[in-house]
Amino acid sequence: MKASYGQVVLVDNGYFFPEDDLHKDVSWFLMDAMKVLGTDAVGMSEKELRFGVGYLKAQVKRTQLPMVCANLYEKKTKKLLLQPYVLKQVGTVKVGIFGLMSNTVDLGPMKDSLTVEEPSAAAKRMVAELRKKGATVVVLLSQLGKVESEDLVTAVEGVDAIMVGHNVPLLQKGRTIKNTVACYGGEQGQYIGRTVITLDPQRRKATADNETFILSAEVGERKEIAALVKGFEDSFNEKLQKAEKERAAKEQAKATSPSPDHYLGAEVCIRCHAQEGEQWKTTRHARAWQTLVDGKKDATPECVGCHVVGYKQPGGFVSVTATPTLTNVQCESCHGMGTQHEALTASPRRITAETCRQCHTATNSPTFDFALYQPHVAHKYAGTPPPLPEGHGTSMQRAAGGK
Ligand code: HEC
Ligand code: HEC
Ligand code: HEC
Ligand code: HEC
Repeated sequence: MKASYGQVVLVDNGYFFPEDDLHKDVSWFLMDAMKVLGTDAVGMSEKELRFGVGYLKAQVKRTQLPMVCANLYEKKTKKLLLQPYVLKQVGTVKVGIFGLMSNTVDLGPMKDSLTVEEPSAAAKRMVAELRKKGATVVVLLSQLGKVESEDLVTAVEGVDAIMVGHNVPLLQKGRTIKNTVACYGGEQGQYIGRTVITLDPQRRKATADNETFILSAEVGERKEIAALVKGFEDSFNEKLQKAEKERAAKEQAKATSPSPDHYLGAEVCIRCHAQEGEQWKTTRHARAWQTLVDGKKDATPECVGCHVVGYKQPGGFVSVTATPTLTNVQCESCHGMGTQHEALTASPRRITAETCRQCHTATNSPTFDFALYQPHVAHKYAGTPPPLPEGHGTSMQRAAGGK
């Protein structure tokens, strides 16, 4: 573009700091790269505040990158955090470029120390100031999003070109809104937008249009940028590998320590499975602990096992004070550990007699018959299940002291 057009300014709209802490280094790297590319002005959003004001200011100072924002103030000093604009002489033309961010975004932990002025007031002031200083063309780097950006240039006169940013979908041909040509830039640095403005003999804008191009292979590489990228990726990769090793070591340490998985208790399940919960509460399983309490057998180890959840298992019942939510025969006694719920839903398994037989043993449940017992616990049984065999529960009543 610099080869095809005589008078060119190169801008970046901002919103380039990474979302996650792991990739923090990408932020300073991109700033270095923009500097090498000779970027004339860079916009600003709440994203660039992610790692703190100190970090951003240090990087701006280090790179001398011309980041601009005309409506972001430090509360304490009432001063702008960054320079509001850049006024640049290109050939015979003076281009004024200013930046704006949204006053409705969440500044996160920065909201106590920073404040954002209402954007259209700042825009009016900037246009007046830049024109007064002799700007032939005024460009706005906007992080207000699509709707707010378009509203602003409809209401505020004198912006010749706007870069529309903040999660804005790519438009290959930019629109003209009233007297402003808009660029809808695309994402992940894969596109470059070109706004061409021609001036009439009175140095007023005669025509303006915008188009966005994908930066495909035929654009080619710039040597010093390619070297910068390689250097960065190599060292960054090493850093990620180290972090990954540390994470893996931690995971391993966790895996060898007891019960990463545990039982959750029915109350958790019932939050989502209310119907099953209602039915379960009507079963004897939901009162199995009370049976032992009534028989004063709730502290007898040989009795507790089948009347609670996950007895003597990692993550299971320990005592009524340590694990008060794991008394009774609950959902997880039949369905398995709640922390493995995903595996549970991935391959729903039919509950077989085996599941019941852990507790319904020949000694403790001599009358057990899966076909007869199952309808009493399956939650969706229509109507009244057939009665249980004669004598059910009696052997256990004897064990409890012969009621
Ligand atoms: C946050 C909500 C939620 C909680 C809490 C929850 N579940 Fe689920 N569960 C679901 C959803 C949703 C499905 C259905 C998934 C599907 O159909 O693929 C499901 C599926 C199931 C199934 C399989 C049903 C089938 O045959 O496909 C079982 C069994 C189950 N849950 C048991 C439990 C148990 C036991 C607990 C408590 C330890 C529990 N759930 C806690 C939401 C929950
Ligand atoms: C963790 C142990 C355990 C598992 C697993 C278990 N049960 Fe039970 N079940 C009990 C206990 C304990 C009681 C008695 C509760 C009470 O009254 O105190 C009981 C009672 C019952 C009763 C009521 C019996 C009566 O006399 O009224 C039915 C029906 C039943 N279970 C069916 C089943 C079925 C079917 C399964 C398998 C799908 C199953 N249970 C799995 C422990 C278990
Ligand atoms: C191996 C598992 C298991 C052990 C251990 C166990 N129970 Fe049970 N208990 C059950 C099952 C299963 C039932 C339901 C039996 C049925 O309905 O056929 C039951 C039922 C009962 C009942 C009858 C509830 C009713 O009114 O129907 C009482 C009382 C009882 N158990 C007390 C005890 C006592 C006391 C001990 C310790 C001596 C004990 N259980 C040990 C599994 C066990
Ligand atoms: C005594 C064993 C037992 C207990 C306790 C139990 N379930 Fe079930 N559950 C079953 C059986 C049997 C089915 C029928 C499907 C099958 O055979 O797998 C079932 C089915 C389900 C399903 C699948 C949808 C449906 O209703 O058919 C969900 C979800 C479920 N149970 C959740 C729960 C929750 C939540 C609890 C506790 C509040 C619970 N279960 C307690 C045995 C049990």
